[in-house]
Amino acid sequence: MIIAIDGPAASGKGTLACRIARHFGLAWLDTGLLYRAVARDVRAAGHSLEDALAAAAAARALDPATLDDPALRGPGAGDAASIVARIAEVRAALLEFQRAFAHRPSGAVLDGRDIGTVVCPDADVKIFVTATPEVRAQRRYQERKNRGESVTYEAVLEDIRRRDERDAGREAAPMQQARDAVLLDTSDLDIEAAFDTAVGVISRKVGQRGHP
Ligand code: CDP
Repeated sequence: MIIAIDGPAASGKGTLACRIARHFGLAWLDTGLLYRAVARDVRAAGHSLEDALAAAAAARALDPATLDDPALRGPGAGDAASIVARIAEVRAALLEFQRAFAHRPSGAVLDGRDIGTVVCPDADVKIFVTATPEVRAQRRYQERKNRGESVTYEAVLEDIRRRDERDAGREAAPMQQARDAVLLDTSDLDIEAAFDTAVGVISRKVGQRGHP
């Protein structure tokens, strides 16, 4: 059982993917962390994020054991990730790890931008989670404020718009809803309602409520 969850920044897909994985007893991979970690490693090696050779080398050398680094959630990490994520060689280098994770016998939930379209086109269930940029910015602003960061709503909205444009506009595996994905707009849904809707979608798809 493979569940693919895609969507733009701060759409709620991470929280949703985590809860879905727990509910159905599946492993979970937040694929955004891979791109965040590549950006971290490119910078740590003293290279520019635009340096395709350095970024591809960092992607090939990525150690998945470093994905729990709290710095990957820090300010600027998402924006930096979206710069290296445009590079086709970076994406190619990360593909095998993601596919191997997805195809484990016990099943998996992966969330990102291209899971339903490129990484797991054969996923059993695909959900594209979205919300208006303003709602997403408000959520991310609250999250960052709660972590004690000094940040404004306007700056967060600007970051989200820039990232949407970069992720949807790139040539390599752009963010898009797979043709067979179910659209879940969470603009007017809290996490509980979004979770219930997603569980309903998954249970219908797999034909047996609760146990895919
Ligand atoms: O949590 P948030 O939605 O803000 O970001 P994320 O999922 O951690 O992704 C960070 C960046 O990595 C995105 O803006 C994308 O540019 C890139 N990414 C991607 O290109 N493909 C994926 N499957 C996951 C993330």
